[in-house]
Amino acid sequence: MTQTEEQTLSTGDTPHVPIEKIVSLCKRRGFVYPNSEIYGGVSGIYDFGPLGVELRNNIRRFWWWSMVQTNDNVVGIEGSIITHPRVWEASGHVENFVDRLVDCKNCKRRFRVDHLPEENIQQNKCPVCGGELTEPRKFNLMMETYIGVVEGERMKTYLRGEACQNIYLDYDNVLKSSRVQIPFGICQIGKAFRNEVTPGNFLFRQREFEQWDLQFFVHPSEMEKWYEYWKERRFEWYKSIINHKDRLRFRPHGPDELAHYAKKAFDVEYQTVLGWQEWEGIHWRQDWDLSRHSEYSGQDLSYTDPETRERYIPWIVETSGGVDRTFLNLLLDAYEEEPPTGKDKEGRTVLHLNPMLAPVKVAVLPLQKNKEELVTTAKELHHKLRRVMVSQYDEVSNIGRRYRRQDEIGTPFCVTIDFTTLEDQTVTVRERDSMAQIRLPMNEVPAYLLERVRWDYSV
Ligand code: GAP
Repeated sequence: MTQTEEQTLSTGDTPHVPIEKIVSLCKRRGFVYPNSEIYGGVSGIYDFGPLGVELRNNIRRFWWWSMVQTNDNVVGIEGSIITHPRVWEASGHVENFVDRLVDCKNCKRRFRVDHLPEENIQQNKCPVCGGELTEPRKFNLMMETYIGVVEGERMKTYLRGEACQNIYLDYDNVLKSSRVQIPFGICQIGKAFRNEVTPGNFLFRQREFEQWDLQFFVHPSEMEKWYEYWKERRFEWYKSIINHKDRLRFRPHGPDELAHYAKKAFDVEYQTVLGWQEWEGIHWRQDWDLSRHSEYSGQDLSYTDPETRERYIPWIVETSGGVDRTFLNLLLDAYEEEPPTGKDKEGRTVLHLNPMLAPVKVAVLPLQKNKEELVTTAKELHHKLRRVMVSQYDEVSNIGRRYRRQDEIGTPFCVTIDFTTLEDQTVTVRERDSMAQIRLPMNEVPAYLLERVRWDYSV
């Protein structure tokens, strides 16, 4: 796709942002760096810089708050990345977690069959050079590793290919150690690893990435009800954190694209320059996981209803999304290059991030750095604010440039200390999106800002 074609994909009035702009901003301003860059990098693996880690933590915390802390029937765990190898036989990943690949006999490029246009599959033709394609081969995505020190006695296992497996492994322990009863859910945020054949599009498809999962355990007769419930709730959750609401949709999976564990699946999709792409999967996993782990481990994972004494294997509704995909989608959703206006003669790049997720909440700026009283007052306010939110102090360059620096990283508020402050203890608070400015007594600033950046999601 050319850049012009990509940009016309937009449904709304603003064009889609090319990924390259986000990659460049992320590197320039310290959100994301290529991993091992001084050695030439590793495809599909990234590091998060000072601002990236703040944004990522806010995204994670908001998910955890809205999924675990605000639901009485949901608890959380944090499982390990390495597990017993039998887990991945029971889960079906050793056998089924495969992509089908073809190579071009002429240009030697490699493609995933499910990513090829239908026409190229039909004609067995390379989409780049038109050369003949090989027969499809299966390629397992699990990353292998070894436990133990003595050569020959080391046990082969895997880095987890989907984070959620720990939840099934800990299901019985949670049931016995917490006072939960069906219906209930277990959440986890954690890393997953896949030897993706075609990693790419920045954070979209990586080899090491992070997932958030809810596994909700229900009586089979209530599966439909809870599936619909979580489907709607997750859709609303994503809608609540983006600006372009028209770029979110559901897409049901066709029978030939269902994962081996799912009887039914809907993707929450977001439209970017890459087209409509999966953001989160809502999977009807039924009894696949607990039945298979019962069978492979020999442990009975059935549930006994405390009132009716009915015994059954619980069915599972899974909502499984990506922290990194959320990170990328939020940046694509928030990025805007505004042309010069009456208010801002130079134009600006701005990240319209939801204030509660923005990496820096406020910047405190003395109007001039060579006036000691301005600097001292600004530093005092900054020290007060940084105890309750991420605050930056900045005195370098003129005030307009400092505002633009903060706009570019999505800081929702800038507080300026000027000469009037020294007379009446009031400050200017500038809001990022409207660039509107109000004057407030300085001692009211912490409470005013806290109210505007607090987590907000009606549950
Ligand atoms: N436990 C179910 C499961 O893993 P999935 O659809 O394969 O389902 C869930 O993955 C989510 O994880 C996706 O919706 C996506 O947000 C994220 N994800 C999957 N593969 C990814 C990759 N290679 N890089 C970044 N994120 C990925």
